[in-house]
This record gives sequence, structure tokens and C-alpha cells, in this order.
Amino acid sequence: MKRAVKAPPGDGGAGSALADPSFSDTVIRWQKQHGRHTLPWQNTRDAYRIWLSEIMLQQTQVTAVIPYYERFLRSFPTVQALAAASSEEVMAHWSGLGYYTRARNLHRCAQRVVAEYGGVFPSDPGALAELPGIGRSTAAAISAFAYGTRAAILDGNVKRVFCRVFGVEGFPGAKPVEDALWRRAVALLPESDVEAYTQGLMDLGATVCTRGTPACQNCPLAERCAAQQSGRQRELPVPRPKKIVPEREAVMLVLTHGGHVLLEQRPDSGIWGGLLSLPQMDVAMDDASLSDIEAFAARFGRPAGVEPLLRFTHVFTHFKLHVAPYRVHLASRAAEVTPASHVWYDTARLAEAPLPAPVKKLLLAVFREPDLLG
Ligand code: ADE
Repeated sequence: MKRAVKAPPGDGGAGSALADPSFSDTVIRWQKQHGRHTLPWQNTRDAYRIWLSEIMLQQTQVTAVIPYYERFLRSFPTVQALAAASSEEVMAHWSGLGYYTRARNLHRCAQRVVAEYGGVFPSDPGALAELPGIGRSTAAAISAFAYGTRAAILDGNVKRVFCRVFGVEGFPGAKPVEDALWRRAVALLPESDVEAYTQGLMDLGATVCTRGTPACQNCPLAERCAAQQSGRQRELPVPRPKKIVPEREAVMLVLTHGGHVLLEQRPDSGIWGGLLSLPQMDVAMDDASLSDIEAFAARFGRPAGVEPLLRFTHVFTHFKLHVAPYRVHLASRAAEVTPASHVWYDTARLAEAPLPAPVKKLLLAVFREPDLLG
């Protein structure tokens, strides 16, 4: 059965300037001769089996998927069997594949196909993409393999092939770049043999146009490949831009006296708002001398020794905090603690204290295994 996918206005299509039938001819010819033909989900039109494979292959490689796929089908040979299984059974069969949202969506999808489509997966990619766990590319792959629909795929591997062949600049996950790639994917679809073309793109991406060192000598697209011609295979596709995270530094003091440690109530707003933490000197880690630290500690008692502890870095959403902690033993404690935001806390109760996780970890290590630190 053939069915044309209606492309949104301006979304590529055979009449588009991006169309080039020689591209799909080349991919189809190569797939028939050199592509994969014996994967367990090939040589069938059973939409259930094809759907299951496409979901498993979304974030997992073929070799890891095969044993799971076969075990899954032995236990749940039909969409009805899967829909009727308990979530525990489904999760147990998925256990080890990772990305468990896929398994929950898979189960919900099976139940909807049974309830809404009488157990027959719809052939329309738009209808498939409405089901849980099925995005535009997965919908197109299922529809092409199970029903021969002319629908374009664009998974991570195909993005890589297109970025290299057409010299696409920009991170392919960015919306405008991705939109442009979809227009290409639609425009390049062949009139027939969509199954071999779709499989060919997947096979090229997985076995030839690989991420690290592509096997350009085996690639049928090499002579038309912009990246190959300019030696830019390593630069394309452009990687995800690195988030620039500002970095801050602080010195934290573990002031101790007689089984107690001095903690500070953090202001309600700002990082660790409302929690207890260690008194902190907001200076660069290497700018605090031992005498600065002693002078700071002298507000709370008489310092009798300062030792550096292991430094750590905590990553917040918007910045990284590098911390240099120091332990300061106080020989005596000031009669009054000022400011009032500071409290002497019984070290035996630290496990229940409302402390930020990295501070709690540091303190539990200091008081349980003091030899491990600094
Ligand atoms: N990756 C995603 N779908 C695939 C398929 N049908 N065959 C091989 N690898 C794939």
C-alpha cells in the first residue's frame, strides 16, 4: 500500500528545490546490496513487531536490543497480550534496557491500540504520532516498514548523515536547523521503495557514517558529501553548544568544640535558602590565608588549629561552586553566638539536620571517618 504524507506548506516535498531523486536512488541501491536484511524485525509487515523494535531502538543499539526483543515477543506475542500484561511484568522484561519511560509508554500505547484501534496499529503517521512514546520520526519508520507509507524519518543517525552530506551548519537539535533538516528529509523521499530507502538511511548512519571515524571509503554518498569533500567529517554535525556556567568559590569552616559544630541558617532566598549550612567566607579559595581563617573563627571562640579538608565542587543549575573546607578546633567557645543566625549543633544529630546534600556528606565524613579527610 502506498500513501502520500501531506507535507505542511513549505515543508519540502517532491517539487521543492531540495528534491534530488538521485539521492534516494543511490541509498536504495546501496541498501539492497550492502545494507542489513536479517535483523529480527525485518522481513515482516507485522506493525506490532515493527513498533516494538522501533521503540527499543530509540535509545539503544541493535546488538543490545536483539535479546530483549526476542524475549519480549516470546512473552507478549501480540499487542493484546502486551496490553493485558501487568506493569510489573512489562517492567521486568524491560529491566536492563534503561530509559524506563519507554516501557511505561509502550504499555500505555498497547492498551490504546487495543481499546481505540481494535488491536491494529493505524497506518497514518499522524495518528501513530498521537500515541504514547511515538514521535514524528518513529511514526514514519513504523508506517514505512509496516504499511509502505511515504513518510520521512529523521532520527539522530539520519541527522548526522544529512548534516555531513549537505554541509548543514548549526547544532541539529536547534529548532531552525531541525526544521530545515525535516524539509530536506521530506523533499528527498523517493516515489517508491520507501522501506529500502528508510532502512538504507538507518544502515548508513549506523554502519558507515558513524560518529567517530566514518567509513567514507564504503559510502555511496561520498562523492556528493560536503563533509567528505572538505575533510570536515569530525566537525559535522556541529555539537550541542556548551552551556557556559559561571563558577564561584567559597571557603567553608567546620568550627568544632566539644561534640558540637557551628552551623549557619541560610537566608530564605538564594542558594540553599532556609537550610542550615557551614559558616562561609565568600572569597576565592586561595585568597584565604590560615590567619584570615583564624581571624574569622575568633568571633566564635579561641582557635587552636586549622586543617584543610578535601575540596569539592557542587554544580547548581546556574553556576558551579568550588568549596575549600577547613576544620578549625576551638579551645574555648565565646559565651554568646553572634550573629543569631549561627547555632552550635550536636554532631550526633547531623544525620537529621536540614543541610544541603554536599555539606551533609562532608560533615558526616568528618565526624565518622576523620582520617579520610585532608
Ligand atoms: N534504528 C532505529 N530503527 C532501526 C531499524 N529498523 N533497524 C536498525 N536500526 C534501527
